[in-house]
Amino acid sequence: MSGMYGPADRAESIATIHAALDAGITLLDTGDFYGMGHNEMLIGEALKGRARDQVQLSVKFGALRDAAGGWLGYDGRPKAVRNFLAYTLQRLGVDHIDIYRPARLDADVPIEDTIGAIADLVKAGYVRHIGLSEVGPETIRRAAAVHPICDLQIEYSLISRGIEGDILPTCRELGIAITAYGVLSRGLISGHWQKGAAKSGDFRAVSPRFQEGNIDRNLALVEALRSIADAKGVTVAQIAIAWVAAQGDDIVPLIGARRRDRLSEALGAQAVRLDADDLAAIERAVPKGAAAGARYPEAQLVHMDSERQA
Ligand SMILES: NC(=O)c1ccc[n+]([C@@H]2O[C@H](COP(=O)([O-])OP(=O)(O)OC[C@H]3O[C@@H](n4cnc5c(N)ncnc54)[C@H](OP(=O)(O)O)[C@@H]3O)[C@@H](O)[C@H]2O)c1
Repeated sequence: MSGMYGPADRAESIATIHAALDAGITLLDTGDFYGMGHNEMLIGEALKGRARDQVQLSVKFGALRDAAGGWLGYDGRPKAVRNFLAYTLQRLGVDHIDIYRPARLDADVPIEDTIGAIADLVKAGYVRHIGLSEVGPETIRRAAAVHPICDLQIEYSLISRGIEGDILPTCRELGIAITAYGVLSRGLISGHWQKGAAKSGDFRAVSPRFQEGNIDRNLALVEALRSIADAKGVTVAQIAIAWVAAQGDDIVPLIGARRRDRLSEALGAQAVRLDADDLAAIERAVPKGAAAGARYPEAQLVHMDSERQA
């Protein structure tokens, strides 16, 4: 809703958030860098007049941006953490954040220092729980030794299954849940994506999996999924969401719907039950590692501790 996937309609964005809350969705996830504060202000506006306890706000911080929207790196220093949080509370119009997490590891700051700073914010009442994002097993263990970690937010979908190696077992050992993003792989495996649809400024215009040389292979996987979806009378997006949900009660699928029609389709996935035969058919249609292309451009992969330790 704030620039990552191209332009979005403000009134439709707010109507989508309201429709999600009215449908019983309780978790809203954002980052202070999405639209450089735009997304937090949008959520703040959407939440006006609603009970604060109706929603859990999960916020990522730490990404540094310039006036042109460029990405400058990450800042996990304790005083930066306190500064980011102050601005976030102001933009959201709330007095506490339910889950606060560094978006990426700052390679220049020990994770203990960053988590220690958030732990101080927990003690002060500004933050309820601490989460992580896109980090690997060693960092997860070091962070959890400082303060309990409620969840790791990380990409997990039919075509991004890297966490099944060491990351998911580490989280399960430590009692840390997974908030899975990219469940629809940014729309690539939603069943709606048309080759070449990404406009400039949309992440999909630079994402390797959407590029010539990879996209045909990836859309062929979607068509294989479509035949399974058709046979069950559901949509491709619903199969993709239901598959992630079926991987464990400790895995929460996070869906990036920008419009009410997309939201309504995504909500329909809750009624989709996949039995062992369905799961086996899906595995045959989209075997592990089947996607062509990396999940991020190289310039962004270098900041991903989860990839380094995978
Ligand atoms: N921790 C991290 O590093 C990280 C990174 C990225 C995202 N996230 C989080 O993940 C959340 C989800 O976003 P995502 O990137 O994971 O996106 P996603 O859910 O994989 O894909 C969302 C896109 O899929 C398309 N779509 C097609 N059919 C849909 C349907 N039925 N329901 C919903 N979307 C459909 C929409 O694009 P169109 O509107 O163009 O159709 C939408 O913008 C974000 O809010 C963000 O906070 C976290």
